[in-house]
Amino acid sequence: MSLNVYISNDNKVFHMTNGTISYIMGVLPNGHLGQLYYGTGIQNPQDFQETVEILPRPMTSCPIENEWFSLEHVHQEYPVYGNSDFRQPALAIRHPDGSTVSDFKVCGFDLFDGKPHLEGLPAVYTESGDEAKTLTIHLADEKKQLELDLFYSMFKEGGILTRSASLTNRGEKPVAIETMMSLSVDLPDSDYQWLQFSGAWGRERELKIRSLEQGITSIGSRRGHSSHNHNPFVIIKRPYTNEDDGEAIGFSLVYSGNFLIQAETDTYNNLRIVAGIHPDGFEWKLNPGQTFQTPECVSVYTQKGLNSLSQTYHKLYQKRLTRGYWRDRPRPILNNNWEATAFDFNEDRLIEIAKTAQNCGCELFVLDDGWFGARRNDKAGLGDWKANRDLLPNGIEGLCRRMNEMGMEFGLWFEPEMVNKDSDFYRSHPDWILEVPDRPGCHGRNQYVLDFTRKEVIDAIYDQMTEILDKAPLAYIKWDMNRSITEAYSRALPADQQGEVFHRYILGVYSLYERLIQRYPKILFESCASGGGRFDPGMLYYAPQAWCSDDSDGAERIRIQYGTSYGYPISSIGAHVSEIPNQQVYRNVPLHTRANVACFGTFGYELDLGNLSAQELDQVKSQVQFMKEYRNLLQFGTFYRLKSPFENNISAWMVVSDDRTQAIVGWYRTLSHVNQPFEHLKLKGLDPKMRYTIETVGKHKYTNRHPYGDELMHFGLITSDGLSGQVMENDKYYGDFDSRLFIINAESVQ
Ligand code: GLA
Repeated sequence: MSLNVYISNDNKVFHMTNGTISYIMGVLPNGHLGQLYYGTGIQNPQDFQETVEILPRPMTSCPIENEWFSLEHVHQEYPVYGNSDFRQPALAIRHPDGSTVSDFKVCGFDLFDGKPHLEGLPAVYTESGDEAKTLTIHLADEKKQLELDLFYSMFKEGGILTRSASLTNRGEKPVAIETMMSLSVDLPDSDYQWLQFSGAWGRERELKIRSLEQGITSIGSRRGHSSHNHNPFVIIKRPYTNEDDGEAIGFSLVYSGNFLIQAETDTYNNLRIVAGIHPDGFEWKLNPGQTFQTPECVSVYTQKGLNSLSQTYHKLYQKRLTRGYWRDRPRPILNNNWEATAFDFNEDRLIEIAKTAQNCGCELFVLDDGWFGARRNDKAGLGDWKANRDLLPNGIEGLCRRMNEMGMEFGLWFEPEMVNKDSDFYRSHPDWILEVPDRPGCHGRNQYVLDFTRKEVIDAIYDQMTEILDKAPLAYIKWDMNRSITEAYSRALPADQQGEVFHRYILGVYSLYERLIQRYPKILFESCASGGGRFDPGMLYYAPQAWCSDDSDGAERIRIQYGTSYGYPISSIGAHVSEIPNQQVYRNVPLHTRANVACFGTFGYELDLGNLSAQELDQVKSQVQFMKEYRNLLQFGTFYRLKSPFENNISAWMVVSDDRTQAIVGWYRTLSHVNQPFEHLKLKGLDPKMRYTIETVGKHKYTNRHPYGDELMHFGLITSDGLSGQVMENDKYYGDFDSRLFIINAESVQ
């Protein structure tokens, strides 16, 4: 079915549908915009407005004289504060007279093909007009001369609906926006489970599930970045919904700053979801003639379970959020020196590490923290983006040249938003950090946050970066951000605009990214915030990949990457093999498992390969070779979660090519137990009618059978040791933290 927007003759009902989903809105008796239906695609009803039920109920406040209509008891699209609804509003405004009551009535609409660009903000995009349709509903609070536009873009494919809102002040005095969410949707029942992806530094995006009860369930960040603690992504699903089947809706905020995603179940079991900039610490002064645009929220609706929901996000974020040269390209296999050397290196040492990496087939060497200014530990140097000539006598340019000459691309670490007080940059501009004057501010890892609300500050960092990038042909930049923001006060803003600091800060970060990617379109950016502290869709618009976590242990990474996969594509997941004992958890996960986990990501090595034995180096060479052969499939294929590490000792996932002729299954066992039951792992996404061959990576031959896809999906792949035996690595058997990769090929492509 095609993408359509039906508008009733009286312009009161708006029905967006692409066949898969329908989203229906209608004008309510008081002129506000109501939500009528959000779910599986339905035919266009002529009289849907008559489904709005109105009952006299006790303790009800009614905006229309002699009528029992109350906003409290209807489903709304963008509820405002101060009228007859007592739930969380999407919009709260303080007017010049101090009142906080608003009244926005529908006054028109626009419909166009494609999707608008959001100035200064990351957003999903279309490449041609027929990929999506955008309906803008215009509302006005006439008395206050305010105009509100609600943007709805529905995509032709999948259950995707993007939303955002803008407010324009046509009056003569400024107003204060106290809350302005990207999305609000009221659903008719709350029989859902709420899935959030939460944790902390080193254990990001763990799946946590709770059921919704009357009251509020929410996650958010007030840290100035989306955070390790909560990812700006929530799924609500029916209790029966599993990976393969059932209703679920995802809400993913394309934003990297403070956020709130909240579910409110009211007395009558209605559910209101709101998502957007966190109202705490936010206030925006909207001057006459100005417009405020919210970030975008991307909802995905499915009846086909969580794998289908994730796959929709993967494809959308891979193809229509990520941009530029690297969007469709498999990612270079890199060697990063951070866990190899930390701050202890010089040019020759780096070249030595890079040589071994290159010998193993790696393509890119990344120099991490410590190459600039007086940075010999984390107490000094941030802000001085000039090579430390004691360590790098030939500068970045010279080091880059040596790397390039030996056939390695070269990449560099920056932390553009931060400064140490012990730096020339800070000494020249002590007033360029966020802090409340005359009040000592907090440091985080000995560093302070530059005032990115100010263009001159961003310009000064940009100039330093371009000075390096114009001279050295870098292939990659790791953009780090290693502390949360406190004392969010800018010396450059007046008292009544201090509530804008957090949002202006992140807009400043986006603007610097945009300038750099426009000027150096071929540089691959990887975002990072002490690992995965800013792993969000906003960042993916600028940096196609993100360092997933500072916890690089192979076993921990299974959970982190599995959790991340609910909302983010494999091509975005920065994952490396690191040394053992692991520097975070001191665990000894075998080399094959470390690689078998990292290959479901961007893949690379975070260690000095020169410390490995000859046998291990051979193994690394085969891993790199394997990755080169299969990275396109691994990073861009259709990804399925098969068995969750949050529930099982054994976990598994797989990717399948678009034509279903090739698949790779990753199987991982945490602890080995004796005398275990036999296991069949049911695969997904294969062609039931194709016959497949199965190989394991490494020496072991799995089976000579050529099962059909239907057998592999319904009987399953035998993974127990009874048939497959155990894979040996370097003449050793592994029990704990063992893993296998199965390569599955349709017979004809053999
Ligand atoms: C952060 C990053 C690490 C590394 C260090 C360097 O912790 O997440 O990968 O770059 O900073 O200081």
